Amino acid sequence: MAPLTVTARQGAPEDTEADTRLVGVFDGETPTDPTARELLDAGEAKTALRKVAVGHEDGPNGRRRVVVAGLGKRDELGHERVRVAAAVAAGRARDIGARALSWAAPDETEGIPEALVEGTLLALYRFDRFKSSAPDDEDPSRIGSLEVCGESDLSEAVERARAVAVAQNAARDLQNLPANVATPSFLADRATELADAHENLSVEVFGRDEIAGMDMGALSAVAQGSDVEPRLIVLRYEGGGSGPHLGFVGKAVTFDTGGISIKPSAKMQEMKFDMSGGAAVIEALGAVAELGLPARITAVVGSTENMPSGHAMKPGDIISAKNGTTIEINNTDAEGRLVLADALSYCVEQGAERIIDLATLTGAIIVALGSTYAGLFSNEDAWCAEVEQACTATGELGWRLPLHPEYLELTKGQYADLTNASDQRKASSIYAAEFLRQFVEDRPWVHMDIAGTAWGLGRPYVGSGASGYGVRTLVELARRAG
Ligand code: BES
Ligand code: MN
Ligand code: ZN
Repeated sequence: MAPLTVTARQGAPEDTEADTRLVGVFDGETPTDPTARELLDAGEAKTALRKVAVGHEDGPNGRRRVVVAGLGKRDELGHERVRVAAAVAAGRARDIGARALSWAAPDETEGIPEALVEGTLLALYRFDRFKSSAPDDEDPSRIGSLEVCGESDLSEAVERARAVAVAQNAARDLQNLPANVATPSFLADRATELADAHENLSVEVFGRDEIAGMDMGALSAVAQGSDVEPRLIVLRYEGGGSGPHLGFVGKAVTFDTGGISIKPSAKMQEMKFDMSGGAAVIEALGAVAELGLPARITAVVGSTENMPSGHAMKPGDIISAKNGTTIEINNTDAEGRLVLADALSYCVEQGAERIIDLATLTGAIIVALGSTYAGLFSNEDAWCAEVEQACTATGELGWRLPLHPEYLELTKGQYADLTNASDQRKASSIYAAEFLRQFVEDRPWVHMDIAGTAWGLGRPYVGSGASGYGVRTLVELARRAG
């Protein structure tokens, strides 16, 4: 699916060439827009969020559609509400055959025009490339453009939101692609494509032997069970600025069978999404580079399959991670923390001063927080507060859970320094975070467990499939760093 053309226009909403206008209406207010007013008076349009009605009016190219979307009370208008309203309106516009959209910004303060663009672009995302009957890019029924119209110049905000939403949709593509297509080398190729497209972005890719050569015994142990080649993908962004050197780390297990500690077959197909953290990191770097944000970022994505085989790691095996820590493998399904252990050590070695990792790490985080909040874990309050603020600003919510020496104690091994899983089944998500903490030395670090939010979010603008969670937060962190 080729991305939509997205533009800003300064001027009156009615002066558009688009075949479909979108207008928001607030509780208790009479809209200035004549068609919106008419539909509201007739009782067809409603002001409640998620309500939409369709009317018609004369435009320069003949009759055009007007989609009127409820926004609720004006003083309760937040970015999330705008994303939701835009998504519902875009869905209706598509259903009635719209090809060109024009949104009248209901408010022009920072974040609102951006949310209109995000809600629209995210809602119009489709993953249908493997359907023989899928409409192609030339299909006349496809929406090809979005204009956001305001009294002030919204071009910068609109362009920024476009780049971020396109990156988020690209992450959703990587998530949705099946594991026989989206292999570690496929992800590395995508990272290389992004680096080739942007002057300020460079890539380095390491294969199986190089990973072993860098003493990454933890990542190697996961990768040894699969015939598909692993990759350690490193993207470096040099955008200048005076902020700290940021480290973005992602788990990209392209398929997690569990390994010898094999998972039950029900829903195992969902484990193609176990690369969601890495996908978000890669595509966020693309957006940061496109926007030319003044920041310095080293992104490290550990990518492999987790498979059972004659050469797979076994429960009881003891391995040695890049930083010298020895680990007993008591459960081969706790592979994400092994992949991240070496990726984090590498990121520390590269000099990152503030680190965030994104990973679909534990099923337990879904039990704790569902799909509303990602779990946040941190060794440093100030950096964690920055991440929490970025999460709130983007609507990719995060909730901090505690670390504590007693949890750390759970990770100690019987025969080695650490064990990757315990049979106590205590605080499983925190256990994983405490495990990771031992690979970041003293660097300010936040771990974001996105197992509950990477897919199945259910918000109107992303639906129930792959969500691209984390892309917006990472770009926001880069923006704030500068
Ligand atoms: N990728 C899974 C976590 C996961 C589970 C993500 C369900 C999304 C949905 C991870 O590798 C895993 O298997 N974790 C285990 C850890 C356990 C063996 C200590 C888990 O959470 O069950
Ligand atoms: Mn697993
Ligand atoms: Zn996993």
